[in-house]
Amino acid sequence: MTKSLNAIAQKLMEPGKGILAADESEGTIGKRFAKINLPNTLDLRRDYREMLFGASEAMRNYISGVILTEETLKQEAADGTPFRAILADTDCVPGIKVDRGAFPMPGEGGEKITEGLDGLRQRLAHYAELGAGFAKWRAVITINDIAPTRNNIRANAHALARYAMLCQEAGIVPIVEPEVVGDGEPGNHSMERCAQVTGDVLENVFKELRLAGVDLAGMLLKPNMILPGINSRERPGFEDVARRTVDVLREHVPAAVPGIAFLSGGQTDEEATAHLSAMNRIPNKPWPLTFSYGRALQNVALRTWAGRRENFAAARQAFAHRAHMNSLAALGEWSN
Ligand code: 13P
Repeated sequence: MTKSLNAIAQKLMEPGKGILAADESEGTIGKRFAKINLPNTLDLRRDYREMLFGASEAMRNYISGVILTEETLKQEAADGTPFRAILADTDCVPGIKVDRGAFPMPGEGGEKITEGLDGLRQRLAHYAELGAGFAKWRAVITINDIAPTRNNIRANAHALARYAMLCQEAGIVPIVEPEVVGDGEPGNHSMERCAQVTGDVLENVFKELRLAGVDLAGMLLKPNMILPGINSRERPGFEDVARRTVDVLREHVPAAVPGIAFLSGGQTDEEATAHLSAMNRIPNKPWPLTFSYGRALQNVALRTWAGRRENFAAARQAFAHRAHMNSLAALGEWSN
């Protein structure tokens, strides 16, 4: 079991490849569609994902795994081909987002706690039967004058650990995602505050993972980078972000973890690529670093597609370009 979990994790971290996060909930994809004036219909969600997964060359060359929603895991392309078969064709591991979203936590800080543990063992067994090799659970950590509270960090870390142990029991690699949010409100915190909170969160997450008996060699970490809040006036250079992020990770992430795949968290496409590349140019890190981007891989492709199947080829080209740039970044070889 341990060996096969580690083998899946290694495959997801194949050099020069990363993960496509295409697990936007129905609500989230609806917001993305609304920005380009599209209604949130089942057919359009299907078409959009079909456009991405059918970008065969990009998927084969740059993408190791795709995070899906339950709807997408079971869905078929317009011609009846299951998405799982399309992903298998390009050797991409199908993954599944299993949390049920982040909900308000009682208290003054506007904090969130991720739900979805009830019935998770049964759902995971079902997803494993459907071929899911890995899963994702996102904890949301808020920064403001009050937040994060110790209680919120502990509750989210504990939920992540319970999720991770259930995944491993089902033979599924858990992606553990504690996101310290940089693009929320008020978003005026400093880079140093992000570093301090992220370090604290990671410390608590690994403490809970160890307590739960999670096999660190059979999981992946999906963290935020160390950045000032989106409304902060600080403008660190790519190398500063890279150095600070790697420093914090070195201090808090055990070397037994087989890989780290970052979220993009509202960075521009180019920033997300530049930061990853700069981190990969830093020598002697104990784990490989790659991308598990949603928006930073999809932004241009989404706009190019614009809801029309006749735009598939152009949208796929746009997606392939971002995937290629991030593949170079995963090797530390991107330059603008
Ligand atoms: P972004 O890269 O758009 O932040 O999304 C990644 C993700 O999966 C967040 O849970």
